[in-house]
Amino acid sequence: MFKKEVYIKRREKLKKSVGSGLILLLGNDESPMNYADNPFHFHQDSSFRYFFGMNFPSLAGIMDCDTGEDIIFGDDLTVEDFVWMGPQPTIRERAAAFGIQKAQPLKALVELLRKENTGDRTIHFLPPYRPENKIKLFEWLGILPAESQAESSTALVLAVIRQRNYKTPEEVEEIRKVTDISVDMHRTAMRMAAPGVTEAQIAAAVNHAAEAVGARISFPIIATVNGQTLHNHYHGNTLKSGQLFLLDAGAELESGYAADLSSTVPVDPRFTPLQRDVYDITLESHNTAISMLKPGIAFREVYLESARVIARGLKDMGLMKGDVDNAVASGAHALFFPCGLGHMMGMDVHDMEDLGETYVGWDGQERPTQFGIKSLRLGRKLEPGFVLTIEPGIYFIPELIDQWQQTGNNKEFINFDRVNRFRNFGGIRNEEDFLITDTGYELLGKPKPKTIEEVEAEHSKELPL
Ligand code: GLY
Ligand code: MN
Repeated sequence: MFKKEVYIKRREKLKKSVGSGLILLLGNDESPMNYADNPFHFHQDSSFRYFFGMNFPSLAGIMDCDTGEDIIFGDDLTVEDFVWMGPQPTIRERAAAFGIQKAQPLKALVELLRKENTGDRTIHFLPPYRPENKIKLFEWLGILPAESQAESSTALVLAVIRQRNYKTPEEVEEIRKVTDISVDMHRTAMRMAAPGVTEAQIAAAVNHAAEAVGARISFPIIATVNGQTLHNHYHGNTLKSGQLFLLDAGAELESGYAADLSSTVPVDPRFTPLQRDVYDITLESHNTAISMLKPGIAFREVYLESARVIARGLKDMGLMKGDVDNAVASGAHALFFPCGLGHMMGMDVHDMEDLGETYVGWDGQERPTQFGIKSLRLGRKLEPGFVLTIEPGIYFIPELIDQWQQTGNNKEFINFDRVNRFRNFGGIRNEEDFLITDTGYELLGKPKPKTIEEVEAEHSKELPL
């Protein structure tokens, strides 16, 4: 991956930042689908990979803040393993590529931790999200799984975020590359969408577009005619004339860096006039948000402005009413835009979500609790080096419409009679990925078809790209 000096420097900075004690980073294990020899595809823990580089299962790393020593722990494979997996380097050889001189078997880690656990040095670890790592913390340190989040080290969480939130030029280059691949995944889907084609066929082609160039998907593909369901992973429908098709998909490189894009395309060759009206509101909201990106602006303000654009557009269409600022302050826009505007992105598609959005995206500030803005994963002031997504959308969710209508929620701002005519409309979202620079922003990767004209033009082209 990167030169070993990169990893050495990252570890030095982390040890200095945490100050004292031992830092324990747990790598991930293979995760069985139905039995041990049939695992899901392996995904390394991103913080472990960021600091130790190694993309193999069943490793743990120690950084000693007091002595400066780094040690990798893991058990070497045997010739019997090679029969099934082919020859493998030793852990010592793998570790050397990332500037780690010392490698020991896992039982040495258990001995070390049991000894240190009775002393007065702090053992810092991150909040575990995999059950097997919670079990390790129980066996090695006596921490009950239910308490492992609370017992994790806030000092370490903050120190990791202080490094991983700021992408270096070599990381940004990886993200540019993976976004380029993701744009091609989206162009493929746009060209395929047509009456009679299935969601599964498009999802398969999108997956192929990633895998054929040595990448893979960074999260389960959303390829759906029911874009109003935000995380919809069902691919069982056949596209029909009159519908919209929404794709939310991104690639992940061998290096671990991820992209995340969304597009919406009509199933027919052209958007209907009504689809155009709603699409253009989402696009104006999207472009307004982008134009505000610069260091120092709070992303929460960007979100609120993007919400005001949506509320204004829907008011012009007769779906909302009343004062736009008051409507957004009261959360009325969330009937149509019930999620956030974007999130940090890096080695994790929602970068470091395992460390807690309150620290990653909100810099420790108390998060809003109002429906809609409470799902905003990022609210803090932006800084150069942040990489984030912009993804406003408009969704017509029949169950939510019914609930709000029955309870009278925000009825002074919603024209329910008119909204009910959109019950089968679906959802529209565009999503792109940005770097915050010293003076503003940079779109990462090549531009994706985004305006109505660009989407219809891409849609009309033949495959292959
Ligand atoms: N791409 C899915 C999400 O951002 O939640
Ligand atoms: Mn996203």
